[in-house]
Amino acid sequence: MHLPIRPRRWRRTSALRELSAEPGLECRQLVQGHFVLPGVQRQEDIGSLPGISRFSADQLLPVVERDLSNGVKSVMLFGVPEHKDADGSGALDAQGEVPAAVRLLKQQFGDDLIVMVDVCLCPYTDHGHCGFVHGEEVVNDASVVALSQMAAVLAEAGADFVSPSDMMDGRIGAIRSALDDHGFQQTSILAYTAKYASAFYGPFRDAAGSAPSFGDRRSYQMDFRNRREAHRELELDLDEGADMVMVKPALAYLDIIRDFADASPIPVCAYNVSGEYAMVKMAAREGLAEERAMTLEVLGAIRRAGADCIITYHASQIAAAGWLR
Ligand code: PBG
Repeated sequence: MHLPIRPRRWRRTSALRELSAEPGLECRQLVQGHFVLPGVQRQEDIGSLPGISRFSADQLLPVVERDLSNGVKSVMLFGVPEHKDADGSGALDAQGEVPAAVRLLKQQFGDDLIVMVDVCLCPYTDHGHCGFVHGEEVVNDASVVALSQMAAVLAEAGADFVSPSDMMDGRIGAIRSALDDHGFQQTSILAYTAKYASAFYGPFRDAAGSAPSFGDRRSYQMDFRNRREAHRELELDLDEGADMVMVKPALAYLDIIRDFADASPIPVCAYNVSGEYAMVKMAAREGLAEERAMTLEVLGAIRRAGADCIITYHASQIAAAGWLR
């Protein structure tokens, strides 16, 4: 055949493919998620997240140290508190497991490590909702006040990013002014901007013990059918002072990631959530997929969609195995 254009010429050898590949995935773009236990000398495996454990702060230290030397320089911390009550008062405890872990990590690693913390009431409330509950309603404005206080406590501990995942209205602006009021002008906000009510959070709720005891999260998290609404949330979070915006989950929401990458003047983060991680792990365990190939394809696709960085439970393992070297 006389074909003037043959795309396969670029695919012929590995060297040609390397020369022509678009920017891909690098360790520096990955953020490892960690579940933090109170106390010391504690490590618990998480059945629903193979390869991931909950750690007390002292046990987290060597894990983060190894990741740092392997090139993963950011963490996202979630608390797994023992004490829960109706108002989630543990979220405001400066001696709680997360502020303590932040202090320890920053003391040890300083600016070499970026510490992000989840700001949400659900692990601390006995009903498991992300804000205060009156009757069956998750109330907005009172919850935002508590979330702002929680953010200030975490900023005080030394977090680089506070990351509200509650999806209450007006939280970014309220948190920004609470941080500024307390003198934390340099603390950044990673907004969970387009956080969808998703079936992919199941393993996380098991890991963090944060499943709602009644109802679901659809009165505050977004409906997965909606794309325009994500733009509205993006505009709000930009106006209110977010430093980075997030799309969550990632894999079923690549279109939203692309929309944000095109529209956002600030970096875009994607959250490769627990259910997405677990699916890869289960498929690999069952021999249905090669783990390395599937992991790098998933994360590479999230990058291609436009994410600047990715929160993922795969980060430590990728770095340790040298898959991106
Ligand atoms: C807290 C929170 C959740 C996740 C991150 N922060 C759970 C939820 O909203 O129910 C999920 C992360 C994951 O699945 O990996 N609100």
